[in-house]
Amino acid sequence: MDKIAVIASGGDSPGMNAALRAVTRTALGRGVEVWAGWDGYDGLIDHRMQQLTTSSVAAIIGRGGSIIGAGRSPRFLLPEARQAAVDRLREDGIGGIVVIGVEGSLAGATELHKIGFPAVTIPGTIDNDMPGTEITIGADTAINTAMEAIDRLKDTAAAHRRAMLVEVMGRHSGYIAVMAGIATGAEMILTPERPVELEDIFHEMSETFLRNKRLFIIVVAEGARWRAAELTDLINGSPNAYEARYTVLGYIQRGGIPTRFDRILATRMGVAATDALLDGSSGVLATWRNNQVEMRANDSLEPREDPWEQSLARVQLLTTI
Ligand code: F6P
Repeated sequence: MDKIAVIASGGDSPGMNAALRAVTRTALGRGVEVWAGWDGYDGLIDHRMQQLTTSSVAAIIGRGGSIIGAGRSPRFLLPEARQAAVDRLREDGIGGIVVIGVEGSLAGATELHKIGFPAVTIPGTIDNDMPGTEITIGADTAINTAMEAIDRLKDTAAAHRRAMLVEVMGRHSGYIAVMAGIATGAEMILTPERPVELEDIFHEMSETFLRNKRLFIIVVAEGARWRAAELTDLINGSPNAYEARYTVLGYIQRGGIPTRFDRILATRMGVAATDALLDGSSGVLATWRNNQVEMRANDSLEPREDPWEQSLARVQLLTTI
């Protein structure tokens, strides 16, 4: 293999650039050319490709976003589009691809692998919802961003004896919510994995008020039973000890300088995935388990745990005593 392609697919996440740098420099170090497809799989379909040199990826290890764009590609779901993209890659002499992304991105890479085009994946998403790996690139940074925001919100909540609802991203996963909630000692954390009843929230609020706590922080995962705005209305519409306000953190969690953890994770995964591709592997994902990167077959990944299980649920008690 003399040339490989690389794309960032799906939503961007902090650390994707560090992964791109590692892929590029690992391949160049082995005498292999690297071509980026712009904006995910769409760049392959439309042949928007750019050669990367060692200087193209200079000084990006600490930059958020993705210098080669990122995006979801409904068109790549069509077998004809995939075949046309592969034909074009082959015409260009490109013999394999590294896909940075999860879910749909991994599904796309698996399809490429099935039609005989070597493809490996590096999991990049803030949601940390990827089967088979303990952590994905970007989750740590997003949690830190949420944690800093919640710390600030605690100041103002306490000043006014308020309940403060903070909605964090995560799609169908409560991972960011659980970890940011633990890191800030939140009074409640609402996740899609463990729905709670409204009465339980109200009960917890009044118990906390009776203990003279001046604030009640609820971290709400975006996939939970209620969005933060909706739940705030429900709280304010009933007789509750605390008056409620909400903040939706949104895309702030996707941008920004990656933490040292995400930079190192991305670098290690980038090196391992590229070496795997150039050594002849395909249909594999870079995973993080027991502080090691391990390349695992896409079809061997066990489902994700409930984030509470992953975080030792007993820590939840600490906020309520
Ligand atoms: O998957 C990352 C993520 O930020 C989710 O947390 C969120 O639900 C989704 O992407 C938002 O997607 P989009 O960028 O398409 O609005």
